[in-house]
Amino acid sequence: MIPRTIIEPFRIKTVEPIHWSTREQREEFLQAAYYNLFLLPAEDVLIDLLTDSGINAMSTHQWAAVMMGDESYTGSSSFDRFRDSVQEIFGYKHVIPTHQGRAAERILFGTMCKRGDIIPSNSHYDTTRANIEFFGAEAMDLPIVEGTQLNAQHPFNGNMDVPLLEKIIERVGPRRIPLVMLTITNCPVGGQPVSMENVRQVNAVCRRHNIPLYFDACRFAENAWFIKTREPGYEQKTPREIALELFRLGDGCTMSAKKDGLSNIGGFLSTNDDRLAQQEKDLLILTEGYSTYGDLAARDLEAIAIGIHEAIDEEYLRYRISSVDYLCRHLAEAGLPVQQPAGGHAVYLDARAFLPHIPPPQYPGAALACEIYLEGGVRTSEIGTLMFSSAAKVDLVRFAIPRRVYTQSHFDYVVEVLAEVWKKRESIRGLRLTHEDVFMRHFTAHLEPIADAASPS
Ligand code: F0G
Repeated sequence: MIPRTIIEPFRIKTVEPIHWSTREQREEFLQAAYYNLFLLPAEDVLIDLLTDSGINAMSTHQWAAVMMGDESYTGSSSFDRFRDSVQEIFGYKHVIPTHQGRAAERILFGTMCKRGDIIPSNSHYDTTRANIEFFGAEAMDLPIVEGTQLNAQHPFNGNMDVPLLEKIIERVGPRRIPLVMLTITNCPVGGQPVSMENVRQVNAVCRRHNIPLYFDACRFAENAWFIKTREPGYEQKTPREIALELFRLGDGCTMSAKKDGLSNIGGFLSTNDDRLAQQEKDLLILTEGYSTYGDLAARDLEAIAIGIHEAIDEEYLRYRISSVDYLCRHLAEAGLPVQQPAGGHAVYLDARAFLPHIPPPQYPGAALACEIYLEGGVRTSEIGTLMFSSAAKVDLVRFAIPRRVYTQSHFDYVVEVLAEVWKKRESIRGLRLTHEDVFMRHFTAHLEPIADAASPS
């Protein structure tokens, strides 16, 4: 028999209760959190789709390995296992542990960037951009045009615009470009994948101009699965072979193990460059820790060493990508404006299409996320005007899917909640900002509902 249902490739050994609440209670919780879902106590959330980062469920093998952590200050055997495990998949010579992705970014840009430099990418993640700007350099996004459109039917919407990259290099000269980055999958563009062909082309341009190519590899395994299933010539290759082939086209990477490391904390920085690695280790010792633990406990290194291998497993990836696609398809079938095709780690709702009566200055994404929470206790996040102010080109609600945490029935529930919200969409009101901080205001902003849609924002 060829089974039609793709089942979760695990059985559940430990369970964590989730907390039910009534709509009336959630109205109180939301008011107390100033209509900002980041400010809600997590125990007041039933299904938490705020992020896919760090809330992965670990396996029995990972928990067993945690007990094997060798917490010696230097010479820990846990580091040896961690380094060997990373090298098997990523292939780079130096592996420098960090406490999470952004610490790897800070060290990378701290050693490679200076004021006035430009770092092109298919799209930089927020923390990557912030770290580049911190060193006085410019973070430049060069996605293909399909990456900037919702619902472009391109199998690799996450690709970089290679002719544009060449133009930029010609215009500013390779000396001002210390490295080029590729974010795989392209998180700011909906977790959309990057093709091997695109990586090859970017690699060729970089080689021609002698510019190193680095990957932001947070979701490398999900990207490998898309290459296997969508790119001609890769059907017979394993995701692990694909990942190794891809990483060979670059000079190093930053990695957050909180995503495709299937861990709750951790990350690393990798490079083939001996001189750079030494400088990076010097910086690591200054703020993170010794070069064999980099601010992690040895037990965390053990969990990551196993997690990255479980993340590249074919059966796991089949389930992972299918479950994100399952949620996306069912929302689309219910008539909701979702980004299609789905990315690797999240589903995105177009809040401007969902709530055309709420103008962007009244935060349609945040308003929709609040209503989804009120209706069913589901926490999502806004990517739009609250996050990026008037620079926002879209207002989206992101349903990020933690790894191995929720099952198909949780997704069925989310679809039911959304169908209810869709029915009452015309009664949803916009929000008004009552307090904002200077940096990354979406984390701490206070908002309140606008009583009448005609009120000023
Ligand atoms: N790069 C990408 C593409 C990311 O998505 C993230 C984190 C980072 C770097 C930073 O890694 O959190 O370990 O420091 N993204 C999370 C998210 C927070 O919700 O998308 P970190």
